[in-house]
Amino acid sequence: MSISAAKPRILVARALFPEVLDFLSQHFDVESNQADAAWSAEQLIDKLQGKVGVLSTGGERISAALLAACPQLRICANMAVGFNNFDLDAMTAAGVQGTNAPDVLTETTADFGFALLMATARRVTESEHYLRAGHWTRWSYDMFCGSDIHSATLGIIGMGRIGQAIARRGALGFGMQVIYHNRSRLDAATEAACGARYVDKTTLLQTADHVLLVVPYSTASHHTIGAAELAQMKPTATLINIARGGIVDDAALAVALRERRIAAAGLDVFEGEPKVHPDLLTVSNVVLTPHIASATLRTRRAMAQLAADNLVDFLVHGKVRTPINTPQPVARST
Ligand code: GLV
Repeated sequence: MSISAAKPRILVARALFPEVLDFLSQHFDVESNQADAAWSAEQLIDKLQGKVGVLSTGGERISAALLAACPQLRICANMAVGFNNFDLDAMTAAGVQGTNAPDVLTETTADFGFALLMATARRVTESEHYLRAGHWTRWSYDMFCGSDIHSATLGIIGMGRIGQAIARRGALGFGMQVIYHNRSRLDAATEAACGARYVDKTTLLQTADHVLLVVPYSTASHHTIGAAELAQMKPTATLINIARGGIVDDAALAVALRERRIAAAGLDVFEGEPKVHPDLLTVSNVVLTPHIASATLRTRRAMAQLAADNLVDFLVHGKVRTPINTPQPVARST
């Protein structure tokens, strides 16, 4: 009788598709959180004892303190394209691999960016609330007039894969003039393929009818849109944030919306989410959704599977599929 080696132990930090857990169980001894309990930072550290890998979502903070307290941890595989929940420098210094889940969500997230743009510009949820409340008694010439999408100027801040997919929808599908601002300018062929023209941030804010944010969160992008930037936008403009909470100063936005300094906003992400700034809940000209831009079953399954593949690739085959850092060669505990 042969004695088989014990499987590496991993943690799945949130409830997940059963078929992805089954796949992981072929390779690992898996502790999962199918009850979807809300763990504190201390509980997460406790659960990670003895684990070499974790499948995290954007909600679990992987801090320097956690890494120090979990010396066996070797990989954190995020089921999200964004990874601002990771202290990446600390992970790199500690010899811990980080991976994210890019590409598989690009088109789905771009669809949602467009859905939020259309709902905001055409006042879809605001008018639905009015109807449900029984206020609709007759037609009037200016009832819920919004602003056009077709032929308008779309300004995209952050022109990565998702920004480019939104630009293509705008330019090719809706005949929009698409302008963008990004840390680095795209090459001419990519600009032509998505029908977008590079401009500086001030020009974008002053010119766009619809400003759409899809820039990754970092200390450098914190409050990319605050009171000063809102003041530069047209009073008829809309602002859409599908990037991350903290890219917009939500308190300043609530004031700008209430005082009609811009026409409307559509927000899928919030500073300190799932808490939402209370003033945003009381203004009518904002569409609010609970961070669901990538939420189709097909895409969420693909994101989960990609995170699982990263764990298997790294811990079983010694490779990485979608790495976000190059860890220092530091020996972790065994
Ligand atoms: C969602 O916000 C993601 O980063 O995947």
